[in-house]
Amino acid sequence: MKKGKKASGGKGKATPAAKKARPGAFDKVVLPIDRMPVLRVLPMPADANIHGDVFGGWIMAQVDIAGSLPAVKRANGRIATVAVNSFLFKQPVFVGDLLSFYAEVVKVGTTSITVQVEVYAERNRLNAEVVKVTEATLTYVATDEFRKPRPLPLLA
Ligand SMILES: CC(C)(COP(=O)(O)OP(=O)(O)OC[C@H]1O[C@@H](n2cnc3c(N)ncnc32)[C@H](O)[C@@H]1OP(=O)(O)O)[C@@H](O)C(=O)NCCC(=O)NCCS
Repeated sequence: MKKGKKASGGKGKATPAAKKARPGAFDKVVLPIDRMPVLRVLPMPADANIHGDVFGGWIMAQVDIAGSLPAVKRANGRIATVAVNSFLFKQPVFVGDLLSFYAEVVKVGTTSITVQVEVYAERNRLNAEVVKVTEATLTYVATDEFRKPRPLPLLA
């Protein structure tokens, strides 16, 4: 199964007729099974916006933290976020969702590391509903003690 893609539902047989009668009932989003989240967080009421949903700025901060984890590892030291290349809030996040952040290095340059972050929410956890809520790409720069760009170390 592809990572984070839809899997067949567990109940009943997904015949074409059944799919037509209940569109979406047999397609279920699951957490990626081939990698581990770098971060898992439960947003609290204090993280909500004026409408009661989770504030986008709070989600952005968590994404920046999640993306920085593989970047620090690759840089083997200090980094700074230089750019948020893309950021998509695909679905709202609710207080009480259990958020899992998956982050992987997708590109490296001389001093820069670009990381893709995907966020999934486990909602109504007793019913095991999973929703992909956010995806983003960020670039970090390895820095030295003077906060200037530093060449990435060679991989062993
Ligand atoms: C990050 C920082 C040290 C980079 O310094 P700089 O003199 O601008 O660096 P350079 O222009 O030499 O670019 C460094 C790398 O970043 C990349 N980069 C710069 N701007 C970029 C952008 N908008 N998007 C993607 N990559 C970018 C460059 O391509 C280069 O990558 P490479 O060495 O792999 O080729 C500096 O911009 C800085 O201190 N910014 C503030 C960081 C910060 O406070 N972040 C928030 C809190 S962590």
